[in-house]
Parts: sequence; C-alpha cells; structure tokens
Amino acid sequence: MSVTRDSFHSRIGFVLAAAGSAIGLGNVWGFPTQAANNGGGAFVFVYLIVTVLLAFPALFAEIYLGNQAQKNPVGALEDACQDVSKRLGRYAGLFGLLGAILMLSFYSIVAGWMLSHALSPLMALLGFDSAATWLADSSVARNLAFTPIFIVLSALIINRGVHSGIERWSSRLMPVLFVLLIGLIIYILQQPGASEGVAMYLTPDFSQISDPKLIISAMGQAFFSLSIGVGGMMVYGSYMKKDADIGKLVISIGALDTLIAFLAGLLIIPTLFVAQHMGQQVFIDGQLIGGPQLIFSTLPALFDSMGDIGIYVSLVFFTLMSMAALTSTISSTEVPVAYLVEDKKYSRFKSTFIVSLVVLAASMTLVFNFDSLFGAVINWVNSFQLPIMGLFYFIVVGWIYKRGNQLADKALLAQKPWLKLWANYLRFVCPLLLTTVFINVISNM
Ligand code: PHE
Repeated sequence: MSVTRDSFHSRIGFVLAAAGSAIGLGNVWGFPTQAANNGGGAFVFVYLIVTVLLAFPALFAEIYLGNQAQKNPVGALEDACQDVSKRLGRYAGLFGLLGAILMLSFYSIVAGWMLSHALSPLMALLGFDSAATWLADSSVARNLAFTPIFIVLSALIINRGVHSGIERWSSRLMPVLFVLLIGLIIYILQQPGASEGVAMYLTPDFSQISDPKLIISAMGQAFFSLSIGVGGMMVYGSYMKKDADIGKLVISIGALDTLIAFLAGLLIIPTLFVAQHMGQQVFIDGQLIGGPQLIFSTLPALFDSMGDIGIYVSLVFFTLMSMAALTSTISSTEVPVAYLVEDKKYSRFKSTFIVSLVVLAASMTLVFNFDSLFGAVINWVNSFQLPIMGLFYFIVVGWIYKRGNQLADKALLAQKPWLKLWANYLRFVCPLLLTTVFINVISNM
C-alpha cells in the first residue's frame, strides 16, 4: 500500500477516544432515568449483567473485526465475509453506515440543545438576559442555529484526522468531563433532599427484576451506551496496531463507560430529589420524570432557584453534556468519512464536507418533521439497528469469517483453551442470547 493510514499513537489515546465515543448523552441522561424508573439498584444490577454477558462481547467483536481488517467498516465486513459473500459484508457495512447517519441526525439536534443551554448561563453572566432566555427556550430557530454549529464542531475535529483530531480532542475533553462530573456530584450531594435520591438510586427493588421489559431496556441501553452497531468502534479499532489485545481494551473502555453512567446516576437522581425539596414536581404517575422535560425544564428550574451559584452549576452541567456529546458524534462521523476516503478515494476534507452535509440534511428533515420522525428514528436505531448489527457481528466472527480469523483457527485454539472457550462463547451463546432478547423486543413492539 502506498499511503499509510492515520492511526492512534498510543493505547491510552485509543482508550480515551473509544471511551469518549461510548460516554455520551446515553450515560448522563439515559442511564439515570432508566435506573430511576426500573427499580433503582435492581436496574443497575441487571444492566451490569447484560453489559458483561452480551455488550462487552459485542464490543469485542466490533473492535476485533476493524482491528484485523485495518479498514473502514464497509471494507472490514467485506473482508470478513469474503469466503461466504463479499456482497453480504458490503451491504451490512453500508447498513451500519446508514445507522451512523441516523444516529447523527437525532444526536446532533439534542447535542445542539446542550450547547445552547451551556451558552445561556454565559450570556446571563455577561448581562445579555434576552439572549440567555432565547438560548434556553426551545424553538425551531434555535435548532436551525445550533444543530449546524454542532455538526461543524464535529467536522472540524474529524477533518484534522485520527491522531491530531480524534485522539487529541478526546484526550483533552474526557479528563475535563470527569472532573466536572465529580465536582457537580460533590456539590449536589450536599444539598437538602439529596440523600433521599441516593437511597432510591442504590436500593434495589428486586420485585421489578423479573419483568422482561427491564432486561430489554437494559440491553438497549447497554448497546447504545457502548456505541455498538454503527461501526464507530470498528473504525476506531482499525486505527490501532493490528493484533492489539482487544480483550483488555474492551474491559478498560467498558469499565470507564459503566463508571461514568453510574456516577451520572449519582448526580441526576439526587438532583431530582433536591428539586423536589425545592417544591418542584418530579414524579408523574409514580414515575420519576425523564426525557427532555427532566434535562431542559426540571434541571434549569432547579439551577434558577439556587441563586447566583445556579448559573455556574448550569454552565458546568451543560458544558459537560456538550463535551460528552461531541466525543460521541465524532466516532459516528468517522464511519462514513473513512469509507469515502478509502473506498471512493476522496480527500479527507471533501469526505468530511459531504458527510456533514448529509447529516445536516438528515437532521433538518427531523427538525421539520419533529413529531412524526424524531422519536421514531431514535426508536429504530435503539431497538432495531444496534441489536441487529450486534447479532451480525457475532455471526460473522463465529461463523462466516474464516481466513485470518484467530477465533476460527483450529490449531491456535487447540493450543489456547481460554481462547477456545471465548470463541465458542461468541459463536454459540452470544447469538442465542441476543436472538432471545431480540424476539422479545419485536413481540413487545
Ligand atoms: N454511546 C453514545 C452515548 O452513550 C451514543 C453512541 C451510539 C455513539 C452509537 C456512537 C455510536 O451517548
């Protein structure tokens, strides 16, 4: 090959970038509300089990495929499927790529909301009160401004490449995110009412554990949270030196992702109880509020009621959310960009430009058809696209991929009993488990 591919320069750089992809709105927003409404500690418990049994192996399969092929996800799946059908691999790769665009279409809108909410307290501090109010109130005009701003921010990082863009920015943003999160937790836990929230979060209500919906929600959350199924982790894996120790990397990424989700719960749920203490309604029909109302109405109202310090708390909280979102969108953006660069031989700039335009068009379609499309696209990606691609990865690694696949190399497996056990787990247990859950998803639709 004449051109060397850009790559991560260090293991820690890779881990931070992949953890950056994993840690996002799904952790800080999705996980705490799901936990609150599904039996608190019981959800955390089920989530951990599903994560270790199914999501970690799926993440392993995704990164492994990318790492072995050293190509973008379309090329990587094409290579892995070549003994059966190259075309199957290609279409699956393109299906994942479509998932990345769909994920970006709604994620960029929500990320734009985070960004405008982060700027709002800044404007308030500078005395521009009407600008602050405009930034905090949802409107189509605000979406028209902030969704593109967010897409451009991702594009600026992606355009700089893997090392100078993705690795560098993830390594800068992730530690800051961690510090901000810890700072917020320390502050909130000292407020009146917080301890009730901690108790609700950590006390498991095991009566809810047998509900099959709980397992399905936990699995959807785990796949989304670990960014499995759109090829983002695969493309990152392809930028690591071939034959890296994927198992160890998966454990580091998964542990970081789960830790942040857990800490976010320790922030959000007590925060809701502090809000309740201040007189806000945080339970609706016995359920703790979640969704946009929680983030964009309850929390801002709480920050407002805290006086001057509230402005800073709000600034820190929404900056954290924006950073978490940014490191997640860059991994999805890299999927189609890498495909255009490698398959179509476009320059990185041109590829980034085209992909950003497509994402912008998709987001704007959602903005203008919000009620009918926004929730539907999120639902499709979460309940369908991600698990089906996860299942496909297991089938590829376990059954289709032969030449060059260490997990199908009989001589190697005979020498290493642990590897053999692992290969069989991926080959038999994972697809079966996932299919069972998947059938449940469909029958519950
Ligand atoms: N894992 C991200 C989150 O938790 C979302 C994501 C999904 C990012 C798929 C990339 C690909 O918010």
